[in-house]
Amino acid sequence: MERELKVSAIKNGTVIDHIPSQELFRVIEILGLEDCPNQITFGMNLESKRLGEKAIIKVSDHFFEDDDVNRITLIAPQAKLNIIRNYEVVEKRAVKVPDEIHGIAKCMNPKCMTNNEAIKTRFKINQTEQGLTLTCYFCEKTTDNKSLKILRKN
Ligand code: CTP
Ligand code: ZN
Repeated sequence: MERELKVSAIKNGTVIDHIPSQELFRVIEILGLEDCPNQITFGMNLESKRLGEKAIIKVSDHFFEDDDVNRITLIAPQAKLNIIRNYEVVEKRAVKVPDEIHGIAKCMNPKCMTNNEAIKTRFKINQTEQGLTLTCYFCEKTTDNKSLKILRKN
């Protein structure tokens, strides 16, 4: 029995749990949390039975939209979102890897029309042993997880 939480409980909002520690700052960045005015607490290198160690982000009074959840999937597919209302976990959302994503990621091919014209990117997502890869709908180039650049939220 744990005597206390490592990061304080929140009253209302979202707890993003089971983030690999090394991806914590990337998750913070792709969600644009540095511009978020809400109360945010996080912890990293916390003990986890499943991952060995994990990071966690708690955002008060904020509930993420599907687009944001899809952004998380690309770098932390094992993350879990807990919706908190009046201190209770009312919903657990496992992030699901979508078949396709629109916007969100950048094509690694500099010649791709999405990097040269005002066209929203579009990818088919492939799950491989090395992680997720994205095949561009326009130029058919595949972007792997290492070269993956997430477009900032605006
Ligand atoms: N949590 C919180 N504030 C609350 C309630 C829960 O910050 N008012 C956090 C907990 O610290 C935990 C997460 O939300 O990190 C999920 O809570 P809970 O489902 O109670 O924990 P577990 O059963 O450990 O969840 P899992 O099995 O998903 O690891
Ligand atoms: Zn492309």
